[in-house]
Amino acid sequence: MGSHVRGHPGVLVSFEGLERVGKSTQINLLAEWLRELLVPTMVLREPGDTDLGEALRRTLLHDVGIKSPRAELLLFAAARAELVLTHVRPALDAGVVVILDRFIDSSVAYQGYGRGVALEVVESINRIATEGLRPDLTFWLDGQSFSRASIPDQIELRDAAYFSKVRAGYRDLSAQDPSRWRVIDAHQSPDVIHHVIQDIMQPWITRLQGG
Ligand code: TMP
Repeated sequence: MGSHVRGHPGVLVSFEGLERVGKSTQINLLAEWLRELLVPTMVLREPGDTDLGEALRRTLLHDVGIKSPRAELLLFAAARAELVLTHVRPALDAGVVVILDRFIDSSVAYQGYGRGVALEVVESINRIATEGLRPDLTFWLDGQSFSRASIPDQIELRDAAYFSKVRAGYRDLSAQDPSRWRVIDAHQSPDVIHHVIQDIMQPWITRLQGG
């Protein structure tokens, strides 16, 4: 947990899971709680939150016709590189708790497991995009999507088999690195999930506040 190991005084927390399992709700509740505790907090989403990221988000989610899984991987990675350089790194260096709505593991699950890009390729592209930055903690809200989008984007249009592969990807990732991953059953009530997340975050907050 020491900043000497992680190379920055902040805390990087990522949220992962399928679409509409409650990630945004939990991210908002966590950010609100941290701000009440006067913990400097920044919430960012991927892809997005930079000009390049928002442009790539439109291309990736709403334009039709990205055929190459590797092209898709590289575009998500470009958005990630821009976000890390301009927002994530500076905030972590300033001791902020950065909460990311998706990060490197989305590429492993969606482009690696989901679209069949070799996992070593995804991992090396991730490393290039983030210059090796990894989350301190990753919450996987495990569950099926609770609702259907009224206007599904290009990724949401993929079939059930695709999303089972993505979910299997999260299962493998979380099993391989239990010190970083916390698996949470997304079917519990938002309030219960929020309390579980608070308990897990508490030691990090205490440390950040010099306790
Ligand atoms: P969301 O932010 O609304 O969840 O939309 C992002 C979509 O992009 C979601 O379907 C997951 C997908 N995605 C990838 O396929 N790879 C990635 O690396 C990231 C960050 C997101």
